[in-house]
Amino acid sequence: MSDFSYREGTLWAEQVSLESIAEQFGTPTYVYSRAHFEQQYRDYADALGDHPGMICYAVKANSNLGILSLLAQLGAGFDIVSGGELERVLLAGGDPSRVVFSGVGKTAAEMRRALEVGVHCFNVESDAELERLDAVASELGVIAPVSLRVNPDVDARTHPYISTGLKENKFGIAIDGALDSYQRAAQSAHLEVVGVDCHIGSQLTELSPFLDALERLLVLIDQLAAEGIQLKHLDLGGGLGVRYRGETPPPVSDYLGAVKQRLQGRDLAIIMEPGRSIAANGGLLLTRVEFLKRTEEHNFAIVDAAMNDNLRPALYQAWQDIVPVKPNNGEVEIWDIVGPVCETGDFLGKRRELALQPGQLLALLSAGAYGFTMSSNYNSRPRAAEVIVDGDRTYQVRARESMADLVRGETAIPPTASED
Ligand code: LLP
Repeated sequence: MSDFSYREGTLWAEQVSLESIAEQFGTPTYVYSRAHFEQQYRDYADALGDHPGMICYAVKANSNLGILSLLAQLGAGFDIVSGGELERVLLAGGDPSRVVFSGVGKTAAEMRRALEVGVHCFNVESDAELERLDAVASELGVIAPVSLRVNPDVDARTHPYISTGLKENKFGIAIDGALDSYQRAAQSAHLEVVGVDCHIGSQLTELSPFLDALERLLVLIDQLAAEGIQLKHLDLGGGLGVRYRGETPPPVSDYLGAVKQRLQGRDLAIIMEPGRSIAANGGLLLTRVEFLKRTEEHNFAIVDAAMNDNLRPALYQAWQDIVPVKPNNGEVEIWDIVGPVCETGDFLGKRRELALQPGQLLALLSAGAYGFTMSSNYNSRPRAAEVIVDGDRTYQVRARESMADLVRGETAIPPTASED
């Protein structure tokens, strides 16, 4: 993580020390490096080069308006999965004509809004959704651009919770039945078939599953062409995995290079929807040690961030490095780093070798993707602040939630009315 580095014995984000961020904004706080997000996006855009297509950042990875705005300024497209994500993109200055709308359960209201603002394409996941989109488009008197998300039945060889391209998953239309669905879509006066998409899973650190999926999509594309259905684009879904702990994902240029080579001689634009690889290593979660608690079995460091702030370790047993902001020369011991939430599964890391003192600052690394966006108010904990560092500047792009924020929209009710 070169955008986060030690200098003078303490950890910095670009040109700002994390100690000063903790002092100014408190903890727990998510800290992002603008340079990292920009570089990662540019790697995709450069690798696409002058091949027609778009890099549509997957908003679910990190949907803070500050992050979306810096990507919009670079001309990024966006992959959204809800009306809420669409509004965020618009608020951040994103171009709706560069938005693809994914997701298995789009409501009629979400479709209406997306048609009104003019998204690039709907990634449709079922025949029932196709029917609903057709009805909404005809009600508005417009034509909806459609891609069908097909399920290529490829094993992404990643964690089962984030593997999505197998027959048994809820996502997409089985590739064998896709021709029928396409024919139905092509016959509708209010749908325009423009592409095909797939997303086989996340945190893939090898290219072969992506390229296997591509091969299967090309077979379908040829079948469609034989039936007179000509597609304009092919959308391969999420991006590459990242390094959390020794993984060695290939460079983006290898991935896009292989795809572009395979598409030579075909008139097909490429869309990709990377989230994690743009965001994960561009962020960390800054937290402070509240208590050290030694038991017969374990040493626990209880910190002020918890599973409600960063769910990945609890949900997927995911590993994220935890480092001291200011390393000390104390004795190294083995610690479970846990939060204050009342769940045994509330941990940020287990069996970490660290020299710890109460009150010290720690950084949970690789937290820029699926960190804040998966956070909750469980145990009535206000959600963390978010800060973007840009050189020697800091922008607080989300204020820490207040107690008033916690109960917004809730009311108490009066005592039960007596019977008489
Ligand atoms: N496109 C679609 C349709 C997706 O479902 C996803 C991620 C992406 C793109 C972005 O994939 P990426 O480039 O980030 O691999 N919460 C989990 C990850 C869930 C991913 C869901 N879909 C985690 O923290 O590991």
